[in-house]
Amino acid sequence: MQTILVTGGAGFIGSNFVRYMLETHNDVRIVNLDALTYAGNLENLRDVENDPRYVFVKGDVRDKATVDAVFGDYAVDTVVHFAAESHVDRSITNPEIFLTTNILGTGVLLDSAKRHWNLRPDDKYCRDYRDGVRYLQVSTDEVYGALGKTGMFTEKTPLSPNSPYSASKTSADLLVRAYGETYGLPVNITRCSNNYGPYQFPEKLIPLMIRNCLTDTPLPVYGDGMQIRDWLHVHDHCAAIDTVLRKGAVGEVYNIGGNNEKANIEIIRLILKATGKDESLIRHVQDRPGHDRRYAIDNTKITTELGWSPDYTFERGMAETVQWYLNNQSWVERVVSGEYQNYYKKMYGNI
Ligand code: NAD
Ligand code: TYD
Repeated sequence: MQTILVTGGAGFIGSNFVRYMLETHNDVRIVNLDALTYAGNLENLRDVENDPRYVFVKGDVRDKATVDAVFGDYAVDTVVHFAAESHVDRSITNPEIFLTTNILGTGVLLDSAKRHWNLRPDDKYCRDYRDGVRYLQVSTDEVYGALGKTGMFTEKTPLSPNSPYSASKTSADLLVRAYGETYGLPVNITRCSNNYGPYQFPEKLIPLMIRNCLTDTPLPVYGDGMQIRDWLHVHDHCAAIDTVLRKGAVGEVYNIGGNNEKANIEIIRLILKATGKDESLIRHVQDRPGHDRRYAIDNTKITTELGWSPDYTFERGMAETVQWYLNNQSWVERVVSGEYQNYYKKMYGNI
């Protein structure tokens, strides 16, 4: 049986990944290590919490003792590292926690993996590891910076992050690379485009706009709304990570994306239509500082070398997602209570 340490498994993508793995494979055990920040919610995993193959540990990836104990107690042989501060706007107002969680947290995990998996951990020249171990870093296309009107990010595109969030994710990627090069740790990095789907915290574009439509609240569009993102349903992201775990070559980076570029304003109009609201809700607000204009992923490597391709069309994914938020309004209202209300007021004032 494979034991996968999933960090950040109570967040948006992490909780979808835990569910996906338990549904797809019988012979896995999942240890979910999550600090339960504002973005982590155990309610996201209520349906699997009694599965004997699933364990939750509340803890911080920056805490060496906790991470070491998890490796020791559960004989972890695979790490999928999702835990992060993940919201660009928050990184602009409070960069510090992005540096500690995203960079130092990754360093703690890598070091613990090396010490627990290396066959002779006291020998700095030893590059031999237990059979079948793998560390997978869940990264983002934002490490590549912004594109103009044409071109796509390949795995060879130079790293050029523009926000404190993407700079912290880039730093973490470089640490992963260093552990692969220096110590021979079997690592992979996946760099995915923007995700959408169930359980996404409603500070991100799609769930925020759906919630605002459902509550007749103005829709804050940054600048002209013509920024482009390359959207992928979270289920397809989970399947891609599973594919890299099973078939990825050691040390390789894989971009993940579904060739689905959309301008923000197009998505907002689609959500208005799907919820039966009209465009009078749209408010153009001041643009995000350093706002990346366009992202687009070239997914040739993962599709041709590993045989992954997305299942969801954007139309089906968005229809299901709007419906999920409609059916789960009480989930939304519970996760946005408290701290989120203060954040929203600070961010958008009284638009
Ligand atoms: P999220 O903000 O929804 O969830 C993050 C999770 O990490 C939460 O459960 C939170 O409690 C946990 N966490 C935060 N700090 C922690 C700490 N110090 N120790 C332990 N747990 C901690 O994020 P998400 O959108 O699910 O993103 C998950 C990962 O995927 C991130 O690494 C992000 O950079 C990456 N990613 C996200 C997207 C996207 O569109 N959301 C796209 C590409 C890559
Ligand atoms: P977001 O969901 O924060 O993801 P990221 O910044 O990581 O791509 O934002 C997606 C796009 O939507 C981005 O171009 C910023 C824009 N946006 C708005 O126009 N208004 C909003 O209120 C939010 C949250 C995002």
